[in-house]
Amino acid sequence: MKPPLSSPETESKQAASPHSDEMIRLHTVVKTYKNAAGEFKVLKGLDLTIRRGEFVAIVGKSGSGKSTLLNMITGIDHPTGGQVVVNGTDIYSITESQRSLWRGKNLGIVFQFFQLLPMLTLLENVMLPMDYVDLHDFEERPAYAMELLEMVGLKEQADKLPLAVSTGQQQMTAIARALATDAPLIVADEPTGNLDSKTANHMIDVFDELVRRGKTIVMVTHDPSLTSRTSRTIIIADGELIDETVVKALPLLRHRHMLEITRKAERMTVQPGETILDCGQPVDDLYMIERGSVNVMLADGKRGKLLAHLKAGELFGEIELLRGGKAIACVRAGTHPVDLLKFPRQDFLRIIEESPITAEALGKIVQDRLEEHRIKSRA
Ligand SMILES: Nc1ncnc2c1ncn2[C@@H]1O[C@H](COP(=O)(O)OP(=O)(O)OP(=O)(O)O)[C@@H](O)[C@H]1O
Ligand SMILES: [Mg+2]
Repeated sequence: MKPPLSSPETESKQAASPHSDEMIRLHTVVKTYKNAAGEFKVLKGLDLTIRRGEFVAIVGKSGSGKSTLLNMITGIDHPTGGQVVVNGTDIYSITESQRSLWRGKNLGIVFQFFQLLPMLTLLENVMLPMDYVDLHDFEERPAYAMELLEMVGLKEQADKLPLAVSTGQQQMTAIARALATDAPLIVADEPTGNLDSKTANHMIDVFDELVRRGKTIVMVTHDPSLTSRTSRTIIIADGELIDETVVKALPLLRHRHMLEITRKAERMTVQPGETILDCGQPVDDLYMIERGSVNVMLADGKRGKLLAHLKAGELFGEIELLRGGKAIACVRAGTHPVDLLKFPRQDFLRIIEESPITAEALGKIVQDRLEEHRIKSRA
């Protein structure tokens, strides 16, 4: 019998398309709903790439568009505009029935409300998708389903009906069912929404194991303690994606402020070794590093002495902006081109004023960096 889940090696054989490391690509995806009050744009032109083997959390306030976004990826709903490519298939260029078959083979879906069939045992529920895509030999299905139930810790419960087990066990069964067709992509909409924290953590352990075996997982969640366990967090606010560099550099800001920075920040690329901020120069912007790294060097006679090496997701310029001074050090691009986001001083100061937690976190960074500056200047 074939192993219950394909290994990363079998997974990579499948990846022969030109964008082989991409599992999901959204290109200017728009979703508009019409009602009596008029048109309502729920997704405002989203661009997003998710690579194979990523474990991605999607977070955002209620009504921000998380489920709508997931439904674009699963093909459950249609975009009003744009393109969605999943595992090499442009899923809205095929017919509804082709898409339905495609979904069965490519996706495992987990909902907040588990949607198990109440008259079937857990084992039978897990076997159900196998019938649909005709994946395993008929005689092998029960043993295969049993292995999946064992993986989620439910071997002993296999012959029980859903209502005879706990809510957590029902959700773990739904996960085993999502794995039944060995689909490369698992999509889950608030899968822990009805679970206690212990069961929720067990579920993430199972997801971790699946990612290790080469699966890609995209999970909507409200729970910040779960996002700390994923490899990437995507925030959606008011139908727009927040720039992931902003999320990394200023993680404690309110989503509306992150969105403002995403919209207003200027994007720039600096060539290797080029000066970004010169010592003594007035600083008018906050800089966030999107790609590459920069070297922060001491000013004055000690030019060339390295103060710090900052990488993607880190920021600079905050000391001067918060203290109203000129650059106390110079910043140069590292050995590779650097992509930066540049956000104007006045807007930054206003946002900080409205964000005490971020102000405090930045205050701490400023203090540490000034201390480092003092020590190195003396040395
Ligand atoms: N079928 C529909 N018709 C009209 N409006 C809809 C429809 N589905 C969703 N919306 C609206 O689109 C917006 C985004 O909804 P969506 O369900 O994607 O939000 P969400 O981020 O998943 O929220 P929650 O955290 O509450 O699940 C909401 O304002 C919602 O009312
Ligand atoms: Mg939702």
